[in-house]
Amino acid sequence: MKVYVLNGPNLGRLGSREPDVYGATSHAQLAEHLVESGAVLGIDVVVRQTDHEGEMIGWLHEAADEKAPVIINAGAWTHYSHAIGDAARLVPLYVEVHISNVYAREEFRHRSVLSAAASGIIVGCGVGGYDLALAHVAGLVLDA
Ligand code: DQA
Repeated sequence: MKVYVLNGPNLGRLGSREPDVYGATSHAQLAEHLVESGAVLGIDVVVRQTDHEGEMIGWLHEAADEKAPVIINAGAWTHYSHAIGDAARLVPLYVEVHISNVYAREEFRHRSVLSAAASGIIVGCGVGGYDLALAHVAGLVLDA
């Protein structure tokens, strides 16, 4: 079973971007960790990051075609991109992750175009939120 972890704009800067908000782990370290965690669970985890909306939509289409679950942190697109929301609804299931507690931050971060159709939402647990999402997806996959 393959699971995609898809990260949106500015998440490639993890580790150096506002470390007080997003922590000290780099995107490369996060990706390596998730691939290892996936291997333990018997899941082929594919981690990608892009700053380009069309590329993210293409990846969501790819996951939809493969019927693969997605863990997505759409970054700022979360708050306004209906194109990302529409594409996410094509995949069999997705978990929305936010590293920070978006509800404790600016008002514009309180709204998500992804939440209504998400299988689950993990907010404010740091990069550990991706592990929680993977555990959730693994449970769903094992149930299936
Ligand atoms: C984020 C929260 C978003 O508001 C922000 O634009 C991000 C990261 C998070 O992981 O906490 O880029 O999705």
